[in-house]
Amino acid sequence: MNMLEKMNEEKGVLILAIESSCDETAAAVIRDGREVLSNIIYSQIELHTVYGGVVPEIASRKHIEKINQVVQTALEQAGQKLTDMSVIAVTYGPGLVGPLLIGVSFAKALSFATGIPLVGVHHIEGHISANYIEHKELEPPFACLVASGGHSHLVVVKDYGEYEVIGRTRDDAAGEAFDKVARAIGLGYPGGPKIDKISKEGNPDAIHFPRAKVVESMYDFSFSGLKSAVLNYLNGCQMKGEKVNQADVAASFQRAVVDVLVEHSMAAVREYGFTKFAIAGGVASNSSLREAFVEACKKEGIEFYDPSPVFCTDNAAMIGAAGYYEYQKGVRHGYDLNAVPNLKLGE
Ligand code: KG4
Ligand code: ZN
Repeated sequence: MNMLEKMNEEKGVLILAIESSCDETAAAVIRDGREVLSNIIYSQIELHTVYGGVVPEIASRKHIEKINQVVQTALEQAGQKLTDMSVIAVTYGPGLVGPLLIGVSFAKALSFATGIPLVGVHHIEGHISANYIEHKELEPPFACLVASGGHSHLVVVKDYGEYEVIGRTRDDAAGEAFDKVARAIGLGYPGGPKIDKISKEGNPDAIHFPRAKVVESMYDFSFSGLKSAVLNYLNGCQMKGEKVNQADVAASFQRAVVDVLVEHSMAAVREYGFTKFAIAGGVASNSSLREAFVEACKKEGIEFYDPSPVFCTDNAAMIGAAGYYEYQKGVRHGYDLNAVPNLKLGE
């Protein structure tokens, strides 16, 4: 081993990761897929709150404004130079096309200017890989529930970078249901954290909302019926002139979502015989969901994994973790890498 090779081995594989698929401009520096040297997230939430949801055009413009600064800060906080990086990893889908294009173009420009290899990462693969960061012992195979604003997937992680989706939502994603119900009960945007918080003061058994099953596929989800049931309940209260107890509605709705997510996941655990189960995505930061899964996995006698809340919602550290394993498998992207808004997982 010569001097240069020895130095490279000591520094490990350093990845600069970039994420811009929705309303977070994020960059991180990761060593060997599991060690986070920096994790910078510029959240645009306040900017979109007045509109009650993410406005793609506004998000794109803000990403352009912030990306340079966010990447610079990630490198500085990690105490690294761009030229020290072994890989540049970037989310190329799924997500909003404009926001995705900012990250992809920026990463391609950095790669072109420096000659550092480029690896495009699937956003959902990133969410799943967030589990590797704090659980150093976690290795595939395992099952993972990914519940975010755009997705509710039950995924079999067969190996690094090898996925099979065994369940998905037929209509709204879990996070989307949280956001819509929060708006309906007057909590505003973003709904998930607000429902999580107010539910602590409410009674989850106050109102019985339906737990939908998809007849043909026991691992699929459907949340639109639940959302309609909440809206009907609110209309009924209004017509009868009854005061709505926001906390009770929030807690009862949350209980219904959590019940369905846990029940379908544990059915898959039993059927497939998984011994390790993980959760991921923005909704995975929900305190009641985490408690319910801890309990359910204990009952099943299997290991449970969840990322800290900061690694559940969109961030670039998770993209670095996924990018590392793709890189190790030999994945390299060219300068023709494009944003793919409806990129599928495991196909
Ligand atoms: O993973 P994420 O940051 O972005 C997407 O890839 O979609 O997920 C955002 C979603 C939003 O719908 C948000 O309301 C939801 O995750 N969320 C939560 C919580 N924190 C964020 N849902 C329930 N409880 C939470 N604590
Ligand atoms: Zn996400």
